[in-house]
Amino acid sequence: MTLDPIAIPKSIKANPLSPRQIDLIDQTHDRIEAFMLADSAVIETFVPCDFQWLSQCLDWIKQQHMASGKRFCELGSGFGAAAMLAAMQGMTAVGIEIEPDLVAHSNRLAADLGINAQFYCGNFVPSSMAGSLASSREADHIATGGNDAYEAIGIAFNEFDLFFAFPWPGEHEFYKTLVDTCAAPGAMLLTYNERAGMKLFRKP
Ligand SMILES: C[S@@+](CC[C@H](N)C(=O)[O-])C[C@H]1O[C@@H](n2cnc3c(N)ncnc32)[C@H](O)[C@@H]1O
Repeated sequence: MTLDPIAIPKSIKANPLSPRQIDLIDQTHDRIEAFMLADSAVIETFVPCDFQWLSQCLDWIKQQHMASGKRFCELGSGFGAAAMLAAMQGMTAVGIEIEPDLVAHSNRLAADLGINAQFYCGNFVPSSMAGSLASSREADHIATGGNDAYEAIGIAFNEFDLFFAFPWPGEHEFYKTLVDTCAAPGAMLLTYNERAGMKLFRKP
């Protein structure tokens, strides 16, 4: 079984953002810049995506009533902008991140902005798929080890309705396989790919 692609209209890039979305994006960029300039060790796998386009995609998904429910998960959440944008739409939004510093920053940003999104330190690959990750040659930037985060969250992978991920080049297939294997029918995966842009898929 494979995921069904859903075309995202290019025209949504002209859609305006709300003042609250703009504020979140500005504050996230400021904090990422401060984080990068600080003396902390560089986290090489952390690269932020295009938050404005992400916001427009999430708005479009909501306007089209495409998600089968309200549970959102950012896989590898970095500073957590995707989960926060989803929470601002009323979704129950979480982010899973392997780097504890990033988890702390995203939880602080959400608290400072009064956004009800939670971030968890752990591995977004459920333990049932850990073996496939370890043997995958195409997933060099997806961390192995760490706790399976879903138990701490209290929501299983197959209970989420919409996932977002920003995979490294060549690693998209692993995320699609993850959703195809572990998510419930109807669940959707939104991904950002610097060259190909935003892509949306649904599990049949
Ligand atoms: C390309 S960054 C994207 C960050 C954020 N989603 C965004 O779009 O701005 C990927 C993130 O995934 C995290 N990551 C990589 N493998 C992971 C894993 N197995 N479990 C949890 N987080 C992981 C990295 O530490 C990094 O912060």
